[in-house]
Amino acid sequence: MIDFAGRTAFITGGANGVGLGIARALLAEGAKVAIADIRQESIDKALESFDNQEAMGVRLDVSGRADFARAADEVEERFGPVSLLFNNAGINLFQTIEDSSYDDWDWVMGVNLHGVINGVMTFAPRMKDRGLGGYIVNTASMAGFLTNGAPGIYNTTKFAVRGLSESLRASLAPHGIGVSILCPGLVKSYIYASDDVRPDALKGEMKPVNVENNARLEQVHQYGMEPDVIAARVLDGMRENRAYIFSHPEFREEIGEVFDEILADFRDYPADPGYEQRIGFEKFRRDSYAKARAAARSAT
Ligand SMILES: NC(=O)c1ccc[n+]([C@@H]2O[C@H](COP(=O)([O-])OP(=O)(O)OC[C@H]3O[C@@H](n4cnc5c(N)ncnc54)[C@H](O)[C@@H]3O)[C@@H](O)[C@H]2O)c1
Repeated sequence: MIDFAGRTAFITGGANGVGLGIARALLAEGAKVAIADIRQESIDKALESFDNQEAMGVRLDVSGRADFARAADEVEERFGPVSLLFNNAGINLFQTIEDSSYDDWDWVMGVNLHGVINGVMTFAPRMKDRGLGGYIVNTASMAGFLTNGAPGIYNTTKFAVRGLSESLRASLAPHGIGVSILCPGLVKSYIYASDDVRPDALKGEMKPVNVENNARLEQVHQYGMEPDVIAARVLDGMRENRAYIFSHPEFREEIGEVFDEILADFRDYPADPGYEQRIGFEKFRRDSYAKARAAARSAT
C-alpha cells in the first residue's frame, strides 16, 4: 500500500478545485507538495492558505513540453524526486464538435490531453529509472464515459485520458508504479471560468465568450462536490490501487445503462472463414490482458 509521508507530489492545476483539495490532503499526510498551475495569483493564494513549508508553487502551462520539463526540474531540485504525480489541470469549452474551430481543438486537446501526455512523458521515465516506485493519477471525468452533443472536444480528451491511463497502468505495474484514473462528476470548482486562461495565440477562431452560459455554469458548480471530499476519496483509491477512482457514487447506475447499451450493439453473426484460428489468438490475448490487469492491482 502506498505511503504518502515524505514523498514529493507534483499536482497540475493544483491551485484551484480538485487539485487544491488533493494538495491539502497530501500535506496533511506529511507529503511535500508542488502545485503547478497557469494562474500565478491562484498559486500565491493557495500557498498562503497552506502556511506550510512543505509546499511550493511553480507556474506552468501543461500544454508546453519544454515548460513541463523545466517545472519538473525546479521542483525536484528543491523537494527531491517526484514519486506522486497528479495530471489534473483541465479546462472546458461547452460547445458541439461541428461548431468548434481548430483553435478550439488545439486549446482543449493541448491542456486536457497533451497536458497529461507531457506529465507522463516527463515523470514516468524518471520514476522508472529511480526504481523507487510511485503513483500517477490522471484526472478524466464522468465525461470520459457519458456523452451528449456538447462538450464534444472535452469528451474526446477525457475518453483519451482513460485509454492512455489504462495502458500506462499495465506497463508501469512491473515497476511498482500505480496508475489510477480519477472520474469526478460535478465539482465545486472554478472550471466555468476556463476562458480566462485561453492563450491569445489560440483565440483567432474563438467564439465570443457566452457570458450567460458561464453564469449558469457557475451556479451549477456551486452544487458540485467539495474538493476536500473528492481528495479523501482519491487517497483512498490510491491506497487500494484502484484502476478507477469514482468519487461520485450517483453515477453507478447510469454507467451500467450505458455499458448495457454498448453490449446490446453486438450481434451473433455466423462464424466467418478463419474464425477458429482467430479465436485461438484472441483467447491467448484475453488471458494475457486479464493477467496484466490482476498484476496491476497488486503493483503498489
Ligand atoms: N468541475 C467539474 O465539475 C469537473 C468534473 C469532472 C472532471 N473535472 C476535471 O477535474 C480537473 C480539475 O478541474 P477543476 O474542476 O478543479 O477546475 P478548476 O478550474 O477549479 O481548476 C483547474 C486548475 O487548472 C489550471 N489550469 C488551466 N489550464 C492550465 C494550463 N494550461 N496549465 C496549467 N494549469 C492550468 C487552472 O488555473 C485551475 O487552477 C480537470 O481535469 C477537469 O476536467 C472537473
